[in-house]
Amino acid sequence: VWKQVPQAPPDAIFKLTAAFKADTYSKKVNLGVGAYRDNNGKPWVLPSVKMAQSALIADETVDHEYLNITGLPEFTTAAAQLIIGKGNPALAEGRVASVQTISGTGANHLGAVFLSKFYDYATLGGGKRQIFISNPTWANHKAIFNSCGITPVDYPWYDAKTVGLDFDGLTSTLKSAPNGSVFLLHACAHNPTGVDPTKEQWHAIADLFQSKGHFAFFDCAYQGFASGNLDEDAYSVRHFIERRSIPVLICQSFAKNAGLYGERVGALHIVSATKEQNNAVLSQLSVIQRSEISNPPAFGARVVTMILNDEKLWAQWQKDVREMADRIIDMRKRLHHLLTNQFKTPAPGGDWDHILKQIGMFSFLGLSEKQCAKIVNDGHIYMTSNSRISMAGLNTSNVEYVASWIDKASRE
Ligand code: LMR
Repeated sequence: VWKQVPQAPPDAIFKLTAAFKADTYSKKVNLGVGAYRDNNGKPWVLPSVKMAQSALIADETVDHEYLNITGLPEFTTAAAQLIIGKGNPALAEGRVASVQTISGTGANHLGAVFLSKFYDYATLGGGKRQIFISNPTWANHKAIFNSCGITPVDYPWYDAKTVGLDFDGLTSTLKSAPNGSVFLLHACAHNPTGVDPTKEQWHAIADLFQSKGHFAFFDCAYQGFASGNLDEDAYSVRHFIERRSIPVLICQSFAKNAGLYGERVGALHIVSATKEQNNAVLSQLSVIQRSEISNPPAFGARVVTMILNDEKLWAQWQKDVREMADRIIDMRKRLHHLLTNQFKTPAPGGDWDHILKQIGMFSFLGLSEKQCAKIVNDGHIYMTSNSRISMAGLNTSNVEYVASWIDKASRE
């Protein structure tokens, strides 16, 4: 019965992990998937997570019953406080509907289904069922919105000439888009470019959202990875909410900042104008969730809840996040130094300073697809063809080897 089913291409990011695993070359390096590695190239179970999980396993009162449809209440409350800020009036006024999701992807999906069912596309956004997404963006964004019947439309983000933010392109699209358009924004540590607006630029972006009545669909997968400080990395989200009149939705993931990739811990938060609207929104999210996953998984959410609510674990987690961010910043400095001073490698924008300026887990090198293919095929260094590298895959033992291949490819 399936003879009409065409073969689908493999996923652009996870195919790199598979190819890396199958490669027998001793110097191979995986800079593909955005997953933190320690300085030995190994996955890192955060000390705060280890402490929380030991306590959970020892606790005989913990059972395996279903969670609520919307998840563990202690988790969704603490997760909302983490991103929105404990003192934010939106929380005190009961205007934030929070639902536990299957990590950030699940949050994006639930948000997309909610928009497709309830956003007033007939009168807002020029009557088109679309979402503006940055060019480039995380590859899965397009797939998620397409699968929910919402057409992704690119807006400018990355300027190849400066290897930085195309602020003029971005703001002119915000101005020219029909009033009430939905825009997806990366809250911090933009994936794949590592190019973030400054605070002043966020203010200007928020001004345009306000004057045009646009809807802000935030994806926040890297809170803590941009600056090493969890509050600082929530700046854009909190600023938009403080404006009050900008409708805001946030997708939140604990995959990266808690290293809980496989546990699928995340949340969707929708901020409403009134408590009444909030209650209706939450009730509908619950209906969608029930039909899709029934109830979310418990273990990872319990781990994160303990970390967020226990003073000692919270202090340890902040240290853990800072340690990951600092190691990545150190790798940025080393790679930059090697390319600039040791190899004297010709750079796409004139110099390699963008490696230092870019923020979060990724660096966007600015190389061509052909140059990237050389690094992958001849250097056995796995990276996406848009020249994104996961900085967390670099360590003191492999950074020189990686720099040598960036150097070779850049000279072609
Ligand atoms: C990435 O961009 O590498 C990560 O977010 C992993 C994924 O799900 O694609």
